[in-house]
Amino acid sequence: MSMSADEHQPLIKTPRQLAIVGLLAVLVPVLAAVMIAYFVVTSSKEVGGAHSSLRSEDVAKRIAPVANVVIAETGSDPVKGMRGGEEVYKSVCSGCHATGAAGAPKFGDKAAWGKLIAKGQQKLVADAIKGVRAMPPRGGGADLSDAEFEAAVVHMGNAAGASFKEPPPPKGAAAKAAK
Ligand code: HEC
Repeated sequence: MSMSADEHQPLIKTPRQLAIVGLLAVLVPVLAAVMIAYFVVTSSKEVGGAHSSLRSEDVAKRIAPVANVVIAETGSDPVKGMRGGEEVYKSVCSGCHATGAAGAPKFGDKAAWGKLIAKGQQKLVADAIKGVRAMPPRGGGADLSDAEFEAAVVHMGNAAGASFKEPPPPKGAAAKAAK
């Protein structure tokens, strides 16, 4: 009969056992929560990594600003450090010449450019670079080299039917760029 009496005894018999059970009751859920949190964090890192760090289109997107700058430079610079005619036109001349503001001969307007083109490339550039009436010297692009200004005249002249030649890059162009 002592066996059956044992069976009906409570599992927790001593204060020490009670303390252990109490400790486990707190620790087990905490450990479980920590493990779940760890799993969620690491698995979301993997997913985030696959989607935002390593996928080639995302890498391309991230380097795009740098890549585009490189493409733009090689596309418009016949020589490193010299801006091409189209680039100079867009950044300096188009302000007036795209619309014909202040009486500027409009880009691509053959009637307006006809008599200017007839002056010849050299004379036209020599006149324009000093400034003509409403047009300031170098079209206001004070930092333009002679060759850059001429390249822009060539770009505009040829857009209106001239067959002007790209100016030879100045000897100092590369040195200027290196500064
Ligand atoms: C602030 C406005 C303005 C800007 C910017 C400007 N131009 Fe002009 N440009 C004019 C005007 C106005 C004329 C017409 C002047 C006239 O005949 O009265 C003109 C005329 C010219 C002519 C004809 C000159 C001639 O012999 O009659 C050339 C070539 C020219 N511009 C080139 C350029 C180039 C190249 C740039 C950029 C580097 C430039 N312009 C920027 C206003 C401008």
